[in-house]
Amino acid sequence: MSSYIHYHLFIFSLTILLLFSISDAKTKKPKPTALVFPIRKDVDSNQYYTTIEFSTPHNFKNIVIDLGGQHTWFNCGNGSDLPTYRPIRCGSKKCTSVNNFGCVGCNLPRKPGCTNNTCGVASYNPYSNDLYAQGIGEDAVYVDSVSNNGLSIGLSYHSPQPYLFSCAHPDLLRGLTNSTTGMAGLANTTTSLHTQMSTQFNLPHKFAICMPSASSYVIGQIFIGGGMYIYPPYNKDIAAELSTTPLVINPVSTAPAYTEGDPSDEYFINVKSISVDHKLIVVNSSLLSIDKQGNGGTKLSTITAYTKLETSIYKSLLNSFNKAAALKKMKRVASVAPFGACFSSKSIASSETGPVVPYIDIGLAGNSQNWRFYGANSMVSVNKDVMCLAFVDAGSKPKPRTSIVIGGYQMENYVIEFDLVSSKLGISTSLLFHNTTCSQSLLR
Ligand SMILES: *[C@@H]1O[C@H](CO)[C@@H](O)[C@H](O)[C@H]1NC(C)=O
Ligand SMILES: *[C@@H]1O[C@H](CO)[C@@H](O)[C@H](O)[C@H]1NC(C)=O
Ligand SMILES: *[C@@H]1O[C@H](CO)[C@@H](O)[C@H](O)[C@H]1NC(C)=O
Ligand SMILES: *[C@@H]1O[C@H](CO)[C@@H](O)[C@H](O)[C@H]1NC(C)=O
Ligand SMILES: *[C@@H]1O[C@H](CO)[C@@H](O)[C@H](O)[C@H]1NC(C)=O
Ligand SMILES: *[C@@H]1O[C@H](CO)[C@@H](O)[C@H](O)[C@H]1NC(C)=O
Repeated sequence: MSSYIHYHLFIFSLTILLLFSISDAKTKKPKPTALVFPIRKDVDSNQYYTTIEFSTPHNFKNIVIDLGGQHTWFNCGNGSDLPTYRPIRCGSKKCTSVNNFGCVGCNLPRKPGCTNNTCGVASYNPYSNDLYAQGIGEDAVYVDSVSNNGLSIGLSYHSPQPYLFSCAHPDLLRGLTNSTTGMAGLANTTTSLHTQMSTQFNLPHKFAICMPSASSYVIGQIFIGGGMYIYPPYNKDIAAELSTTPLVINPVSTAPAYTEGDPSDEYFINVKSISVDHKLIVVNSSLLSIDKQGNGGTKLSTITAYTKLETSIYKSLLNSFNKAAALKKMKRVASVAPFGACFSSKSIASSETGPVVPYIDIGLAGNSQNWRFYGANSMVSVNKDVMCLAFVDAGSKPKPRTSIVIGGYQMENYVIEFDLVSSKLGISTSLLFHNTTCSQSLLR
């Protein structure tokens, strides 16, 4: 008898426990402190892409990241994997909150990306320079958070609200690596990945990128919401070690389509100097500032493979680098386009921070610490015998819109934080210097 009662009590309490833990999971899932998305590199195209899980049931989309992109767009196919997609109507509250370009319709059979009376946005592919007016819509996304110790993936979450994106015409994919079907915009807009995520999850409006240097099986990160950036075996919080410089507003939009008077939503910084092995190079300082027409200055771009410099800056860097390289007994060989200074790999030693070559330092406003590029970020192997300076000439006639465009190769293996709360860019020292890299296996 007694054991019978015990048995029932046991089942009863087990039921309570189960009920309790189910409701616990539903109501008490802690709010994430930061979200994380992967970054992979396609080494043939030098494109960096992330993966986002869309709709219900979820499915993965690989999309190229673009710091200058305004929103996410991808090829939605026949729409069968976006069963919970809904177009945004023209004139709706959501439509007025986005950078919209009127109303779009469609005469083909209805599917995601082909609906009438839909809020139009301008989707741009910078690789092909194609610009399409497309309808914007929304669907659920499923995202990963960073664990409490900052070292792994924590809980995963459905976004509280659907995510805004646009379904792209298949022709808009021209120039994108085959493993991807669209682009994810990370510009300072209401529709960028980080703005939507930090708004929905009520996180500080900050995001950081840590871009990998090698191919797809190694994975860098986009962090959204700030917090800790911890890389083993250098288990210190890199967020505490970032050196910062103000983000500068370019008063004239640099987007392919914009409204008169709009400022740029790309990320500009104020470069004060460039030096090679501690010697300043000669730069016309008026090229380093942004004029009233929005020309000049320095921006960061993940869709530019190698940093592009206006011709006079490029020539000056090349001169100084070649002189410093000669002192290091680096042997010049014939240049390999698009690069202008190439060397025999045999004449260059290697180290934790890549080939041992003259340092290139960028001096930034409000900052005593330079952004230092070691060989891993300043030299690129073009074949097994030849390495070249990984900077390219942006031309001078016509003058490039932006004098310095810091490209993806130069951003690899740094933690770079875009803090839109205090309008600052934070840059770590090279993770290679700490015997670690952006490439961690913690992500799917
Ligand atoms: C939609 O596309 C998917 C994948 O391309 C395919 O498997 C499916 O059969 C298509 N559905 C229809 C209705 O065409
Ligand atoms: C859009 O409206 C036009 C004109 O009324 C109609 O012919 C077309 O089928 C509609 N398209 C969709 C996708 O509903
Ligand atoms: C991508 O696909 C196109 C068309 O199918 C093909 O011509 C091209 O070689 C592919 N590129 C890569 C890098 O696989
Ligand atoms: C510096 O650049 C500005 C703007 O491009 C130009 O007007 C000026 O002539 C240049 N100065 C020198 C010394 O080259
Ligand atoms: C980002 O956009 C907001 C809203 O338009 C603007 O107030 C802010 O100055 C921008 N910040 C930067 C760094 O561009
Ligand atoms: C990095 O590793 C090298 C050897 O693998 C070692 O000599 C060096 O001290 C390490 N540096 C740091 C910062 O841990």
